Amino acid sequence: MHDQASVLRDLASRENHKQAKMRVIAVTSGKGGVGKTSFTINLALALTEYGQRVIILDGDLGLANVDIAFGLTARYTIEHLLSGEKTIEQILLTGPRGIGIIPGGSGVQGLANLERDKLKNVIANLGRLEKMADVLIIDTGAGLGHTVINFLQAADDIIMVTTPEPTALTDAYGLLKSLRIEAGEVPIHMVINRVRSEEDAQATFKRLETAVQRFLKGSLSFLGWVYDDTLVGRSVMLQEPLGISFPDSSAYRCIQWIAGKVVGINLTQQRQVGGVRGFLSKLLRSF
Ligand SMILES: Nc1ncnc2c1ncn2[C@@H]1O[C@H](COP(=O)(O)OP(=O)(O)O)[C@@H](O)[C@H]1O
Ligand SMILES: [Mg+2]
Repeated sequence: MHDQASVLRDLASRENHKQAKMRVIAVTSGKGGVGKTSFTINLALALTEYGQRVIILDGDLGLANVDIAFGLTARYTIEHLLSGEKTIEQILLTGPRGIGIIPGGSGVQGLANLERDKLKNVIANLGRLEKMADVLIIDTGAGLGHTVINFLQAADDIIMVTTPEPTALTDAYGLLKSLRIEAGEVPIHMVINRVRSEEDAQATFKRLETAVQRFLKGSLSFLGWVYDDTLVGRSVMLQEPLGISFPDSSAYRCIQWIAGKVVGINLTQQRQVGGVRGFLSKLLRSF
């Protein structure tokens, strides 16, 4: 019988093994419907163009639809992994360019509240992801729920998506405020989606940055922007990522540029990332 503490020690010691670690990026937003899922799947696609192997964890409790966006249907979810019925290999779907998709379903809540007796099995299964990918992107769902915050705290990086709409900005600020308190050191990178122009994006970022500096005494990084583009809606209808249906669209070009920055941040900062084990150990430690 392992108790939680000894499992965590075990995790930590395996951390020392020389093995390329998977980077965990959580994509989130204050408000729903701002384009997180569209952004996530197209970022995944664009990262493969940089030779990165990517797995997406569909972590939106309210509206898990990453599989649908890829034209796939999930048969099993993380719930089957937690119950021990299925292995990670059995629930993982494969999308275009080898992108892996882990359907979360309501199992995501279970993952963030793992019971002790399930710990070893889940860690062993998720640990195998490390060999399959360089980046794990979590589409977390919107808002201030506990599960979302726990995922954000445990990630190596947070990408927060907002649109220039006042309501989206207010909710983004609300989330930034709680993250400032609860996820102190995790870098937060902003993406402004559905902008009309670069000036629109810069002005929107500036508004948020000013509020964060003035009232939260924090800093914010500007990752990039994505144009409002009717082709995004068309690709949703086609159930195909934008980058496959319309690779030359203005929105996808923006996401390719952002993917370059995401890869670049990793290269230039020589960052130590925690990998899957680091992620899980932080996720569990938040309880
Ligand atoms: N850059 C964009 N231009 C135009 N429409 C967009 C853009 N990004 C997202 N959308 C639209 O917004 C809607 C919500 O996007 P979605 O990715 O499902 O949001 P979320 O995951 O944040 O709830 C979709 O119908 C999508 O077509
Ligand atoms: Mg979504």
